[in-house]
Amino acid sequence: MHKDIAEILFTEEEIARRVGEIGSAITRDYADVAEEGVVLVSVLRGAAIFMADLARAIDLPVEMDYMAISSYGNGAKSSGVVRILKDLSSEIAGRHVIVAEDILDSGLTLKYLLKNLSSRGPASLTVATLLRKRTLAQADIDCAYVGFECPDQFIVGYGLDFAERYRNLPYIGVLKSEVY
Ligand code: PRP
Repeated sequence: MHKDIAEILFTEEEIARRVGEIGSAITRDYADVAEEGVVLVSVLRGAAIFMADLARAIDLPVEMDYMAISSYGNGAKSSGVVRILKDLSSEIAGRHVIVAEDILDSGLTLKYLLKNLSSRGPASLTVATLLRKRTLAQADIDCAYVGFECPDQFIVGYGLDFAERYRNLPYIGVLKSEVY
């Protein structure tokens, strides 16, 4: 796996430090609702790794829930039309929900998700994304917590895949172009 990486963008240590900082910020920002805690929601599959680490960096009661979604048809990802394959296991009405995403690229996944989740009446709804790609055509998404800005390159690791590989790399790197 490692030989396919052209350049490491964020090391394991840098990621751990940043996730810790985001966890501390969330702990601080939600101190007023410490009794009820927060619900972390992630979209399978890539974001599960970030969410698992983020949950342990938050010093509040945390519930973890997951959704799986799929795009309609070919190239539909850019159309923003998605289908729910697996819905949340619990109700989020009246809850403080934080969506944990691994990467914000076109923003269409989050745009759909936020609309869908907000219709369920959460007490609050915010986004924590580990990575935000610098792309021109990105939906206008308000992210309360952003780990790193990253270049518009093919990146893998720490949950991000190419053809389901590289998710388990402990760092985030740029995939060599001859690989894809
Ligand atoms: C990735 C990532 C985000 C989405 C971001 O998921 O986890 O959910 O793409 O892209 P967008 O901002 O352009 O919508 P992907 O569909 O690759 O599924 P995966 O998590 O199973 O890898």
